[in-house]
Amino acid sequence: MLSFLRKKHTLAADYSGILTDIHAHLIPGIDDGPKVMEESLQLIRELEALGYRRLTATPHVMSDYYPNSRDFILESHQKLVAAVKKAGIGVEIGVAAEYYMDSQFLSVIDNDQVLTLPGNQVLMEMSFVSPPPNLYHFIFRLQTKNYQPVLAHPERYLFMKKNFSEYERLKEYGVRFQLNLLSLTGHYGTPVAEMAWKLLKNKMIDYLGTDVHHLRHVEILKEALGDKRIAQTVAEYGFLNAELG
Ligand SMILES: [Fe+2]
Repeated sequence: MLSFLRKKHTLAADYSGILTDIHAHLIPGIDDGPKVMEESLQLIRELEALGYRRLTATPHVMSDYYPNSRDFILESHQKLVAAVKKAGIGVEIGVAAEYYMDSQFLSVIDNDQVLTLPGNQVLMEMSFVSPPPNLYHFIFRLQTKNYQPVLAHPERYLFMKKNFSEYERLKEYGVRFQLNLLSLTGHYGTPVAEMAWKLLKNKMIDYLGTDVHHLRHVEILKEALGDKRIAQTVAEYGFLNAELG
């Protein structure tokens, strides 16, 4: 009888409302993403079919494993863009990086070598085991140079679970949060999914990212749209991705 009073929810049929992905491993042979160009093109085609209009290649920059320099990333990105064009794929491919907070990152900042997302934003990550001792030092160094820090997948740093105020503190210091869509599906386990939903509930998330590395991830993103709670969140939360233009 009171059904007319119930709020109607919008469910996303695809990710076209998100428009721009700000976190993806798309460049072949540069990190733990696709190994060869054909794999990259397949990933990009599938993401385009899911509704994305712009993708951002954000290869890892991590001194111990992926010491990718700015020039190497830009050169590799150019090759990818050329291959995408040749393949007749219409999606735009931007470039930035996912910086691990280590000493190489500090010298990248000091030498003005940072590859940024639109709006001078810098995607960064840290260990899943413990925070860097100088976490706020990275944040201040970036802010001093007028960069906007964006923390990749905050929900995956489970060492912060015991102390939720750590998240609040980061937000107070002006850090933006990028949630992995995959986290909502339970792909990284239940504790990560729980933290993802908690951060959403507290309205602490700014951006959504796919963080795709391979086709299996895209499959999970497809399946995720069949989950009402996820489809509703994608449609209604108001992520800032769409404002990136
Ligand atoms: Fe990533």
